[in-house]
Amino acid sequence: MAMIRSSVVACVFFCVVAYNSLLVLGRPATFLEDFRITWSDSHIRQIEGGRAIQLVLDQNSGCGFASKRQYLFGRVSMKIKLVPGDSAGTVTAFYMNSDTNAVRDELDFEFLGNRSGQPYTVQTNIYAHGKGDREQRINLWFDPALEFHTYTIMWNHHHIVFYVDEVPIRVYKNNEVKGIPYPLHQPMGVYSTLWEADDWATRGGLEKIDWSKAPFLAYYKDFDLEGCAVPGPANCAANTANWWEGSAYQSLTAIEYRRYKWVRVNHMIYDYCTDRSRYPVPPPECLAGY
Ligand SMILES: *[C@@H]1O[C@H](CO)[C@@H](O)[C@H](O)[C@H]1NC(C)=O
Repeated sequence: MAMIRSSVVACVFFCVVAYNSLLVLGRPATFLEDFRITWSDSHIRQIEGGRAIQLVLDQNSGCGFASKRQYLFGRVSMKIKLVPGDSAGTVTAFYMNSDTNAVRDELDFEFLGNRSGQPYTVQTNIYAHGKGDREQRINLWFDPALEFHTYTIMWNHHHIVFYVDEVPIRVYKNNEVKGIPYPLHQPMGVYSTLWEADDWATRGGLEKIDWSKAPFLAYYKDFDLEGCAVPGPANCAANTANWWEGSAYQSLTAIEYRRYKWVRVNHMIYDYCTDRSRYPVPPPECLAGY
C-alpha cells in the first residue's frame, strides 16, 4: 500500500476531478482484495458492492476474518460501527498476531459490549516475545454504535500506538535497549472477530448476553493496511524511508500527547501497571516512560 500512497500524493493535481468517482483513495476497492473469511462464511455479509461488511453474531455462531498477508511494521486501520443497544456479553476484536504461539507477538483492541446506555469498554493488550498480560481498559467517551469510528494500530521501530479516531489511547515504546521486549522481528496478520464471551466481558461476567436481542450486528469499512507485506521485498522493514518510520511518527506530537493524557486522566478504568494485586512490583515497561 506504500506504493499506492505515493501515487496519491502524485495525483493531487489532477485527481481532484476524479475523486468523486473513486470511493476511497489508497485503500483496497473491496474487502476480499486484502482479507479472507476465517470463521463462519454465513455470518459475514458483503455490502456496498463488497467495500463494506456486516458481521453477525447469533446463537449459532460468531464470525471472523483475517488479512491475506502479514505485515512487518506499518499502520493498519479500519472504520467500525459496533453492536448497538444491549451489547452486553459481546466482544468485537481487532488485532494483529504473529501466529507463532510459543513466541507470540500480538497487538489487541477488544471492544466489550454493555447494557443499553452503559459505556463500551475498549481493552488493549500487547504480547511481545510470547509474553502478554499487559491489559489496559478505557471507557469510550462516545457511543461507538451510532456511527463509524476509525480504529488504528501504528507499529514502527520507535513505538506502538493504538488510536481511536485521532486520539492515542495507548503507547508502548521500543525500550529493547533497556531489556524490555518489543515486537521487532515477526510479521503479523490483521484479524477481526465478533463473538460471545459473557463469562468475562461485561462487568467481569456479571452481565449475560440477551439472546432475545440477537442477531448482533457490527459493520466495517475503509480497510487500510499500509506496511511491509510478507511475503514481499526482504529489505522493506529496515527501510527508514517508509513513511510510517518518518520523524512525524517516531513519538506523539504535542497535540497527540495532550489527547493521550486526557484519555488517561478521564477515561482509563484499568491499567495493569497500577494493579498492585497482580504486580506488587510494576513491570519494567511501566517505569520506562512513554
Ligand atoms: C459497563 O457499564 C458499567 C456501568 O457503567 C461500567 O462500570 C463498565 O466499565 C462498563 N463496561 C464493561 C465492559 O463492563
